[in-house]
Amino acid sequence: MKLVYTGKTKNVYALEDGNYLLKFKDDVTGENGVFDPGANTVGLTIDGVGRAGLKLTKLFFERLKEEGIPTHYVDANIEEATMTVKPATLFGNGLEVICRYRAVGSFMRRYGMYAKDGQTLDAFVEVTLKDDARQDPPISEDALDMLGILTLNEYKILKELTKKISAVVKDELAKKNIELYDIKFEFGRVGEDKHIALIDEISGGNMRAYKDGKYIEPLVLEKLMLGE
Ligand SMILES: Nc1ncnc2c1ncn2[C@@H]1O[C@H](COP(=O)(O)OP(=O)(O)OP(=O)(O)O)[C@@H](O)[C@H]1O
Ligand SMILES: [Mg+2]
Repeated sequence: MKLVYTGKTKNVYALEDGNYLLKFKDDVTGENGVFDPGANTVGLTIDGVGRAGLKLTKLFFERLKEEGIPTHYVDANIEEATMTVKPATLFGNGLEVICRYRAVGSFMRRYGMYAKDGQTLDAFVEVTLKDDARQDPPISEDALDMLGILTLNEYKILKELTKKISAVVKDELAKKNIELYDIKFEFGRVGEDKHIALIDEISGGNMRAYKDGKYIEPLVLEKLMLGE
């Protein structure tokens, strides 16, 4: 097993059969010891965080498989906090794709002049570059195409997949009376045919969820969703 990448919250290993192994760590992002899923630095360590994130990730990736949506998922080992996946090549150095059902967070910080806090948005999709040094800047469809990161046709596929996946997650949360406000995903090219597939994880830290109008912390969300 060869370590290929040390991430903030996961390590990536190459397996001998060509697959990758993602090891979920107990490190969480944040600043000054305060948990912030959107932060770009590791802020603290909480026992069991890796396993809880993996459990929810497993639940969603298995649901997506049932829906026939392409992902990198092969299987998961909760005890070991590992997930076996198909290796992907990223778009550029990686993108984050966000789907929004309500205006909160960075959407309000950017568009607060026009948007009302919490107003409904119709599965609004936007893309940011994974670029810590530049605080993950948003990027338009035309810029993605012009810079050779994604073609316009690939963007269409990415957007459609994002809406479909978000709808699956939203429905799963709704079963527990939890409302999905927004969610972020990573995509890559997978397999010999290089098809676009969902990669990485879908844990509490990837989304903002509310219950009875109140924000739910990622760890609490994971507990509620997993019935623990
Ligand atoms: N199937 C895959 N093939 C290749 N790389 C993958 C795959 N799935 C996830 N990754 C990458 O593995 C890394 C996992 O590490 P981690 O989640 O700690 O993220 P990070 O990039 O360090 O930081 P952050 O997610 O906070 O931006 C990410 O860079 C992600 O893009
Ligand atoms: Mg990550």
